[in-house]
Amino acid sequence: MSQHALHTETFSLKGKVALITGAARGIGFAYARSAAAAGAHVVLNDRDAKSLNASVDELRSQGLSCSASEFDVTSEGEVDKAVSDIVAQHKQIDILVNNAGNQLRKPFVDFTLAEWHSVMDVHVTGSFLVTRSVARHMIDRKSGSIIMIGSIVIESVRGTIAPYTTAKGATTALGKALAVELGPHGIRTNIIAPGMYETEFNRALLDRPEIYNTLKDKIPLRRWGKPEDLGPLVVYLSSEAGRYINGHIFTVDGGILTSL
Ligand SMILES: NC(=O)c1ccc[n+]([C@@H]2O[C@H](COP(=O)([O-])OP(=O)(O)OC[C@H]3O[C@@H](n4cnc5c(N)ncnc54)[C@H](O)[C@@H]3O)[C@@H](O)[C@H]2O)c1
Repeated sequence: MSQHALHTETFSLKGKVALITGAARGIGFAYARSAAAAGAHVVLNDRDAKSLNASVDELRSQGLSCSASEFDVTSEGEVDKAVSDIVAQHKQIDILVNNAGNQLRKPFVDFTLAEWHSVMDVHVTGSFLVTRSVARHMIDRKSGSIIMIGSIVIESVRGTIAPYTTAKGATTALGKALAVELGPHGIRTNIIAPGMYETEFNRALLDRPEIYNTLKDKIPLRRWGKPEDLGPLVVYLSSEAGRYINGHIFTVDGGILTSL
């Protein structure tokens, strides 16, 4: 085998099945595109059916292998049924990316209990439910790659997003717990921590030039991240190339955390 072929195969996801939650748009969609471009069949999940189906159609029109699985990550019944259906249809799930997320911004003292739960439910409980269901299956197969989505907010945070910051601390900790507990089963778990990205998630910041530009100027690479900046990392972590990487946080932020 040539060195080039060896390199290409090491980073290939050919023959693998990936489940990516919250993949109808934004960063999840970029993860899906990268994983499919590397050869995986990608099951895109979201609770927004219209946007989900449009995204699946877009990837298919580019010749990529993918399908849709509509469910709410916070519903135990929906999650268990969807994972069981995916395994029945595709025989396996090799890669799980717990990407679904939401955001609420307001002063800490104004958050209601329901609002607190609405953020914790999607990030933390959703990651727990989907991972539990998929991990049972991965343990049987003695292999798998699980990726949790953290954030730079657990290191450096702006105001008004206390529930989100707490939730990202929890998903990061859950990723480390899983790396230790599932590692002996041949399952690797890692955490991707994005910086500031131009997605609908940050609409409240993107629409305010003074905030957008202030943050941009703090990033050493002098631009906000684009979802496609993150896609290749999922391929690296989930392919043979990442076979010995387990339990670590990968920050992709243009250098903002490193900058004074
Ligand atoms: N955008 C950023 O700057 C940034 C930075 C750090 C971390 N993140 C994280 O990256 C992930 C994706 O962020 P994004 O910017 O693409 O957000 P986004 O809002 O553009 O996309 C999130 C997707 O998750 C889906 N979703 C929400 N709740 C769901 C549920 N209960 N069940 C199923 N799907 C659900 C939404 O419908 C949406 O399609 C999130 O976990 C977010 O916290 C984003």
